[in-house]
Formats: sequence, structure tokens, C-alpha cells
Amino acid sequence: MDGALPDLLEALRRDRALMEPDRLRERIEALDRLDALLPDAGAPAQCAQALQQQLEAANATQFEAIREAIQRGDGREALQRWRRAGDGAALRAGDGYDWRDELVGGVLPFGEPGEASALPPEMVFYQPTPARHVFDLLDRLALGADDVLVDLGSGLGHVPMLAAICSGARGIGIEIEPAYVASARACAQALRLANVAFVQGDARAADFAVGSVFHLYTPFTGSVLRSVLDALRREAGCRAFRISSFGPCTRVLAAEPWLASDDALLPGRVAIFRTRS
Ligand SMILES: C[S@@+](CC[C@H](N)C(=O)[O-])C[C@H]1O[C@@H](n2cnc3c(N)ncnc32)[C@H](O)[C@@H]1O
Repeated sequence: MDGALPDLLEALRRDRALMEPDRLRERIEALDRLDALLPDAGAPAQCAQALQQQLEAANATQFEAIREAIQRGDGREALQRWRRAGDGAALRAGDGYDWRDELVGGVLPFGEPGEASALPPEMVFYQPTPARHVFDLLDRLALGADDVLVDLGSGLGHVPMLAAICSGARGIGIEIEPAYVASARACAQALRLANVAFVQGDARAADFAVGSVFHLYTPFTGSVLRSVLDALRREAGCRAFRISSFGPCTRVLAAEPWLASDDALLPGRVAIFRTRS
């Protein structure tokens, strides 16, 4: 650890363009590295904290600019450059988070939700789909203005909000936890997202007649998942739609005979299924 912080500070100070708008990713990653080194810092801590404040201020300015673009209805363009920035062709699989989650958390004004209640067995606690996988999903879905993405177990609501911002589709979140729904509604209102709505309730009682895509980041398991899939299968008898999934529930969806996937199912990536005709 010795020397690691001074070396990092020196490298960051030498990087004269670090505060430029297009270096957002590098600033977020630099803040992560500073955070990791600061507890053991000793004397250089003051310099590191000053630099941290500069980096955070530059990021806050940029988050605010993106937020204002979303409020004007220009969010798709404002976020476009960050959706694949710096990845090349590869998308990191798995459920870890990266700098894009900081970006989304900085831009979307999530209030601190109140205390969440304990969920019954078979209902899964809140954990957001990592932002890179949401952007990957939106690229692959290519939603249009007539689409409606319904997130079953929507938590703080970033999937329906990003779908609406990035595609112009409607976004609906269905979430059992009232505190999350209140936070999601406040966030959508602050961003002036007229085409996003959040419904508080059990996904088993949802209106499946609305929705061209249903998203499931393993919100429930066992008999709760079975009941929702049975309702979706009945709806599939009337019309076609797609289901996207992330996490362990993908295995269950892949075994459903009324669903098909056009892509190979890659571990740690979002899967997209369509109803069979
Ligand atoms: C793993 S998180 C997924 C969050 C969000 N869909 C995402 O992709 O970022 C699961 C969410 O489902 C919610 N949930 C669990 N059981 C539910 C049910 N029966 N009906 C509605 N929401 C439920 C939880 O409160 C939690 O917010």
C-alpha cells in the first residue's frame, strides 16, 4: 500500500484533461481508487480529499447537465455516448456493478427510500440490474414509441425510466414495496417523465394485458414465479410479446415450452425471449 496513494495522486495530477466532460468514466474510476486507498492514507489524505472534491464537483456538473437534458426530452442523446463508452465489443458478464451504475445513480434523483418491509419467502430483495446490462437490453430490444416495457418487481424503477428515456417507449414498474414505489414516482416526476408509471402491488395480481416486454431480474422464485409465468402464458395465448430476464430465473424461463429465444443464452447476460406463435 506504501506509496500507492502518492503515486495515484501524481498520475491524476499529471492528467491535465481529467476534468474535461468526456472523461466522466475515468473520474468515476479514479474516485473508486481514491476511496480504496484513503483509509490507509496518513499524510497525503488532505491532498487526496481535495482532489476527490474536485472530481466529485466535475461529475455533479455533468450529471446535472444530463438530468436537464432528460427534463427537456433530450435524454436519449445525452446518455447515448455513455451507453457503450470504452467497452469495445465486450460486455462484462455477471451481476457486479461498474462506473455506469455511478452514472445512473448520479443522474437519476433517487430519494433515499424509507425502510423496506421484510419480504415473504420466494420474494427476492431489491438489487438493481447493473446499468451496463440495462443499456445492452435496450440496444437489443430496439423499443419504439408503441412499446410498453413492464418491469415486474421494479425496485427503485431505473429499468422503466431508462427504457422511457432512451427509447421513447412507455415504462411501467410493478413493485410490492411501497417505499420503493414512492421513491420511483418522485424520481420520475423530478425528471418530468410523463410516459413512466409505477404501480404498487404484487406482480401476481398485475394486469398482463398491458406490456410488449416484461422484464424480470429474478424478483421471485418458486411458486410466486410459477404463478406469474402461468399468467403470462395465458396472456401469450391472446397476443405476442417478449420477456427479458437476468439472473437465475433465466433458467426457468428457458425451460418454458411457450417461449423461444433468438439468441444464444449467455451466462451473466440479459436473455430475451419471445412468445411462440
Ligand atoms: C432483484 S430486484 C429487481 C429490481 C429491478 N427489477 C431491476 O431490475 O433493477 C427484485 C424486486 O422485486 C420486488 N418484488 C419481490 N416480490 C415481488 C412481488 N411478488 N411483486 C412485486 N414486486 C416484488 C422486490 O421488492 C425487489 O424490489
